[in-house]
Amino acid sequence: MSQIKLKVADIQELTPNIKMFELKSADGGHLPSWEAGSHIDFQIDEHLRRSYSLANKPGDTERYVTAILREENGGGGSKYMHDQVSIGDELIIAEPPTNHFPLDEKANSHVLIGGGIGITPLLSMGYRLKDMGANFHLHYCTKSAEETAFYDEVKDVFGDNVTFHHDGGDPANGIKLDDVLGAQEDGQHLYLCGPGGLINAAREAASHWRDSSVHFELFASAKADDDKADSTDGDQPFEVELKETGITFTVPVDKSIIELMWEHNVDVMYACEDGWCGNCKVGLISGKADHRDEFLDDGDRENFIQVCVSRAMPGEKLVLDI
Ligand code: FES
Repeated sequence: MSQIKLKVADIQELTPNIKMFELKSADGGHLPSWEAGSHIDFQIDEHLRRSYSLANKPGDTERYVTAILREENGGGGSKYMHDQVSIGDELIIAEPPTNHFPLDEKANSHVLIGGGIGITPLLSMGYRLKDMGANFHLHYCTKSAEETAFYDEVKDVFGDNVTFHHDGGDPANGIKLDDVLGAQEDGQHLYLCGPGGLINAAREAASHWRDSSVHFELFASAKADDDKADSTDGDQPFEVELKETGITFTVPVDKSIIELMWEHNVDVMYACEDGWCGNCKVGLISGKADHRDEFLDDGDRENFIQVCVSRAMPGEKLVLDI
């Protein structure tokens, strides 16, 4: 995979905490093509990557457009992008755009539900669905009109096929998921992108939909603190041995394997810290893992683990190939 050098052509403040970045090829040439739902991985420093979805018209090889929410409590990638990056700067992406969140273009109709910054891949999907003449509708959930990124562009692209849900900060006043997802039409597919709370609630409301028709992408930014607290329920400390470096440590209940690796100065690539981007994949030599990622398939889970979120099954020691 080859890195690509991009130049920042424009930056705009879309909301008080979301900025749009327009990126062009640093050498003035064409960029690799891409599909709706794709993301790019900025190589922010030697070990830190951050994944951001593309929001412009799929297949645009003149420019990539993304939007980034400034996360006060995040791993630093969004603060770097907001505070350190200016128009004219050069940025590196680790490889051409990749797509873990594709449209099923054979579907009869498409329901899209986006929360906050989760609009980015859904906007690119809107362009594609409009071009296809597809039957589609977007439900876009934000706090208020002022905090709605790409408001005018979304209206242009989706036209009558969008409903805005502004909850004023209280989800109880927001989208009525049971109404929106009550009945699945024949051949209908659902695409969810946004905060963990919204994704989980929508998946619950769509639990009667066919599994293969529900697609979702979590945003790292979306991981609510209380989600994190809940996720430690029932967890136990476990032992990890890093075969190559000869380091052994115990992962406590409130920390992840990757955090312990950092404490022991073991380098591992990462981006989302939420189990979906795939960057922190490490070889699993032995031990039964409690896989909590959304990235690996069943076959891969025999031999790999995403160390940002996954843990060991009770009583197991994990031996990792690093
Ligand atoms: S950092 Fe993204 S899956 Fe672990």
